[in-house]
Amino acid sequence: MDVSGIDEITYGADDLPVCRTFFLDWGLQLVEEDASRLVFESLNGCRVIVRRSDDAALPPAIEPGPTLREVVWGVTSADVVERFRQVVRDLPGAVDEGGRVGCTDPNGLAIRFQVSRKRDVEVECAQMNTWSDKPRMNRRSPAYERAAPIEVGHVVFFVKDVAACERFYCERFGFVPSDRYPGRGAFLRCATEGGHHDIFLLQTPDAKVGLNHVAFTVRDIHEVFGGGLHIARQGHETQLGPGRHPISSAYFWYFRNPAGGLI
Ligand SMILES: [Fe+2]
Repeated sequence: MDVSGIDEITYGADDLPVCRTFFLDWGLQLVEEDASRLVFESLNGCRVIVRRSDDAALPPAIEPGPTLREVVWGVTSADVVERFRQVVRDLPGAVDEGGRVGCTDPNGLAIRFQVSRKRDVEVECAQMNTWSDKPRMNRRSPAYERAAPIEVGHVVFFVKDVAACERFYCERFGFVPSDRYPGRGAFLRCATEGGHHDIFLLQTPDAKVGLNHVAFTVRDIHEVFGGGLHIARQGHETQLGPGRHPISSAYFWYFRNPAGGLI
């Protein structure tokens, strides 16, 4: 395995105070803050950064308005960074910042690779009883007042050419297809073994380009509900959910994100 998951994402947004409130409600920790940026962390140290859309430090946007501007993928060793340094060298938007190298993907998104800075975390997760198997006897399931997301689990983009994007991630950086809507959608994971997908690329008939959503991973289904109810109580708008995806088996609750797309 070369790429282990998402280490950091950066949004470009219009209203930083609103984004600050939103991500605190979402359950992230605010670890740095100044006039130009907000830096949040999830439980395992995955970073979510928000800057102003017109910040010159940001890579170009793939769509108008607030959106995701950069995805930093964590890799397993400095050897992988070195190998990817050679891969990106001649690609559009190539950057080499020492410990972090990157380029622009075929959809126009800035991607970067660094040795993962995420921490191992121990969290207690609910045991699930079924009709045939009951590991939790005479004990309540956990109930969450609000969520504390463990990490960014995956990102989803509308892309103009799903086949080109799939080739780019798989052939150059070792991603593996896990599922497909033939001709319109590709679910890719970082490595052969892993969660269902780390990135999902979706091509619509009008070839729209943009961010669809960023997904955060929580401990168990109870935290999906506890977290979602908290976000709804704070007045944030549900787009869809709660629900369950037929393909990935994931339980979800989508909200509108003031920093861009759905979350
Ligand atoms: Fe998702």
